[in-house]
Amino acid sequence: MASRDATVEPITSSVSDTMLPSETGETKLPVKKIPGDYGLPFIGPIKDRLDYFYNQGRDKFFKSKIQKYQSTVIRTNMPPGPFIASNPKVIALLDGKSFPILFDVSKVEKKNLFTGTYMPSTNLTGGYRILSYLDPSEPTHTKLKQLLFFLLKSSSNRVFPEFEACYTELFKTVENELNEKGQSSFEKPNEQAAFNFLGRAYFGSNPVDTKLGTDGPSLIAKWVLFQLAPVLSLGLPKYIEDLLIHTFPLPSFLVKKDYKRLYDFFYESAGSVLDEAEKMGISREEACHNLLFATCFNTFGGMKIFFPNILKWIGNAGPDLHRSLAKEIRSVIKSNGGELSLGAMEQMPLMKSVVYEAFRIEPPVPAQYAKAKVDLLIESHDAVFEVKKGEMLFGYQPFATKDPIIFERAEEFVPERFMGVEGEKLLKHVFWSNGPETEHPTVENKQCAGKEFVVLISRLFVVELFRRYDTFEIEIGTSTLGAAITIKSLNKTSF
Ligand code: HEM
Repeated sequence: MASRDATVEPITSSVSDTMLPSETGETKLPVKKIPGDYGLPFIGPIKDRLDYFYNQGRDKFFKSKIQKYQSTVIRTNMPPGPFIASNPKVIALLDGKSFPILFDVSKVEKKNLFTGTYMPSTNLTGGYRILSYLDPSEPTHTKLKQLLFFLLKSSSNRVFPEFEACYTELFKTVENELNEKGQSSFEKPNEQAAFNFLGRAYFGSNPVDTKLGTDGPSLIAKWVLFQLAPVLSLGLPKYIEDLLIHTFPLPSFLVKKDYKRLYDFFYESAGSVLDEAEKMGISREEACHNLLFATCFNTFGGMKIFFPNILKWIGNAGPDLHRSLAKEIRSVIKSNGGELSLGAMEQMPLMKSVVYEAFRIEPPVPAQYAKAKVDLLIESHDAVFEVKKGEMLFGYQPFATKDPIIFERAEEFVPERFMGVEGEKLLKHVFWSNGPETEHPTVENKQCAGKEFVVLISRLFVVELFRRYDTFEIEIGTSTLGAAITIKSLNKTSF
């Protein structure tokens, strides 16, 4: 455990009448009323929305409230608010100690809140409430999560070869563009590689050889925008954007045709998984909408955000880290007879730590929500708070995984942070999958079904990069989801 650093000022707790023992029973924490307010109806939520997107920005929005109320558990409105969300009021959890209450499905319900205080129209998902929106208490949750476990298991033999093939293609494209133009965007080639890889690995079907051609990524981008627009900023002038995408939902009929093209690809490609679904008592139609969502929203969306982030953090860390990674990765592959395997990757502690550190410092899905099922107590580092049944909890994950009381140099990318016995102990505070990194998704919890798969492909990405190059240089811009990376140079292996 580390002490608070300068990034978040210490909170001086004012001791109240009631004291409760902490979880460990060692110290007594004061019971406090949750500070913060929601403002006037309608006006309060809109003021908070404008502060969140434009006047302050996300991090400053939460940081200023922590300072104002001297608490990491506070009441606030969360976007979008009127007229999209009927109730924008949340209790925000802004430290690594209170955050894990969101994982305890015996105390919280996770129904219809995957995207937050609003739920996109089910017209965007074939009329079905998709798995991500189901609470584990709903019987369909178990069946659908089992189906995804089946999908991941049945594709496991294809992951290594298809990843290598699709990302070899990506590096070729980037190299060609570098030769021609002196720089190359990472975004488009990454999206094409990711979607082709998923079609080939999950379903044994190469999208570019079907009617979809190379259109998959742009169809998905439009469809995802219709779901997430209320919580995104596209960089348009503030009041126009706020009215256009944060005030009313975009009409789903505008994306119907695009969705149908994606659906047809999945229906034709996923035959054997759909057969399995029928055996499990799920209709082919419901299964297919779920496979589409898991592939295009959960997985493709994740790769679209996280792979550029990995490049950003490793790129910024500089050539010394690059060479160390290249050395470790190549020597392990060499000692494994030139073969890359799961076992070989386990012998690459620096590479593994770097991937976890990228997940810690910038969790790809920063917001998680859950509703209190019962009256409960939530503990921060400084106090205990009473929450009433039915209240909405919201966790801002970057503040939980950059909590200076849990992580030393919390704001810094420390490549070797998770190495060794002491380093591995910190993994329980890494939450990108909606659960501690030391735990696993089951049909009883809401942890990301693709957790192990995501860690595997993220590692593969770093390995494929440093098999080929000693060092690289990038330029970083912003985009609506994740970072916009321009590759300025790739230096081929010299050892
Ligand atoms: C970088 C990639 C990914 C990230 C960052 C990510 C993140 C998350 C997060 C934060 C949640 C919890 C959301 C919530 O309930 O608040 C979640 C749930 C989920 N994810 Fe992922 N995910 C990724 C990839 C995948 C993949 C590859 C799959 C595919 C099979 C997947 C399937 C799911 C499903 C089905 C749920 C809901 C689980 C349940 O209902 O029990 N995700 N993911």
